[in-house]
Amino acid sequence: MHHFAYRNGTLHAEAVDLARLADEVGTPFYCYSTATIERHYRLFAEALGAEAHIFFAMKANSNLAVLRLLAKLGAGADTVSEGEIRRALAAGIAPGKIVFSGIGKSDRELAFAVDQGIYQINIETEGELYALARIAAANGQRQAVAIRVNPDVGAGAHAKITTGSTENKFGVSMSDAERLYGAASSMPGLHMCGLAVHIGSQIRDLGDLEAAFARMADLVVRLRRAGHRVARLDLGGGLGIPYEMSEAVAHGPDLIQAYAAMVRRVLGNLDVEVGFEPGRLIVGNAGVLITCVVRHNPRPHKTFVIVDAAMNDLIRPAMYDAYHDIWPVTEPGPDVSSRPYDVVGPICESSDQFAAARRLPVSGPGDYLAIMTAGAYGATMSSTYNSRQLVPEILVSGGRFAVVRPRQTFEALLDLDQIPDWL
Ligand code: LLP
Repeated sequence: MHHFAYRNGTLHAEAVDLARLADEVGTPFYCYSTATIERHYRLFAEALGAEAHIFFAMKANSNLAVLRLLAKLGAGADTVSEGEIRRALAAGIAPGKIVFSGIGKSDRELAFAVDQGIYQINIETEGELYALARIAAANGQRQAVAIRVNPDVGAGAHAKITTGSTENKFGVSMSDAERLYGAASSMPGLHMCGLAVHIGSQIRDLGDLEAAFARMADLVVRLRRAGHRVARLDLGGGLGIPYEMSEAVAHGPDLIQAYAAMVRRVLGNLDVEVGFEPGRLIVGNAGVLITCVVRHNPRPHKTFVIVDAAMNDLIRPAMYDAYHDIWPVTEPGPDVSSRPYDVVGPICESSDQFAAARRLPVSGPGDYLAIMTAGAYGATMSSTYNSRQLVPEILVSGGRFAVVRPRQTFEALLDLDQIPDWL
C-alpha cells in the first residue's frame, strides 16, 4: 500500500498535488512519500518484533532526508562502501547501528569502518578476514564480525539480482564458513559474533528464503557444537514488493506477516539476535518518478511516447527488464480513450524504454506521467549519461514538500571534469 492516489482529478503524493509540484520544480523528478516509508518500516519492524535489528539497505535509497526519516523511526543502516557509511553517519545513524557488507571492501574502507566503531562487518572472503584482523589489531581494536555465507540457494526476480547461489560471487561456502569461524575466533583483532546471509532481491516466494534460513540454523548448531559462540544472525534483505497495481491488491502486507512467521518457525528456538537488511520493501512503493511527455513518434506498427525521463534516471527497465506501472498524473475520465504506447526516453539507445505496448490514455506533449514504484534503486542508480543532469528528489509529508536534492546544475555537471594544462 502507498500514499499516491487521485484526488479531485489529479494524482497526489499524500496531500500534495503532483501536477502543481511538477509545474513548480520542473520534470523529471523523484517524489517520495513520508507516510509510505513510515508505514512500510513500521509494518516490517512490528512483524519482526522489538528484538530484531533493522539495518536499512541504503543502496536502495540513500538520500540524506530519507535516511534521517528512517533513523528517527529507529532504523540502522546496511552499507556497502565508505561513501554509504559517511552518508549514514551524516544522516544521524549511530555507528552502533551500522553494518558494513560487500564483497570488495578495500583496506582503507575497512580501516575507516573499524575507526568509526561500527556495529558489525560482514566478511565475504577469507582474504578479507585476515585483512580486517590485521587492520583492527593494528588499531588496538576488536571488531565485531559476521561471516557472510553463500548457502547455495539463489533467488530473486532476475539473474542479475540473485546472490545466494554458488555461481554468484558473494560470501563463502558453508564448509569454509565453519573453518573460518574457528580460525577467526582466535584472531586478536576480531570478535566473532555470527553469520550473515542474503540470497537475492525482489523475492516473493518464501520457500527459497526458508531453505536458506534453515541452512543457516543448521550451521549455527554445528558451530556451537564445535564450541563457538554464535550470537547474531543477519538475514539480509530481499523481500519483494508488488510492482503492479493488481499484485498490490492481491498481496498487501500479508507477505511481511508470512515472512515474520516463517522466520520465527525456522529460527525461533535458536536463541540468536536476528538482524535484517530490507531495502526495496521499505522505500520501493514510496517513490515515483514524474516525467513529462515531450512528443510522439508514430511509426507504422506502433506509437512511441517520448518522455523527458530516461534510462539514466531510472535504469531498472533497461537493466532488468523490470516492470513499472505508469499512471497519468491527470486522472483519466470515463470517456477518455486509451491505446497502447511504447514509453521511451530521449537517450540514444533502444534500451531507453520504460514500457512496451502499454495501454495509456491518449496523451500529448506537456502531459505528466508518474512512473510508479521507483523509490528503490531509482535515484541511487542514476547517472549523467548523455550529459543529463541528475534529477531532483522531493520528500512529501502530508501537505508539505521539500526539495531534498535539487536538480544538478549544468555548471556542477561540467565542473566534474578538468582539462589538463597541456591541452
Ligand atoms: N543486503 C545485501 C547484502 C544486499 O546485497 C542487498 C541488495 C540488500 C540487503 C537489500 O535487498 P532488497 O531488500 O532491497 O531486495 N538494483 C536491483 C537490486 C539490487 C539488490 C542488491 N542487493 C534492482 O533495482 O532490482
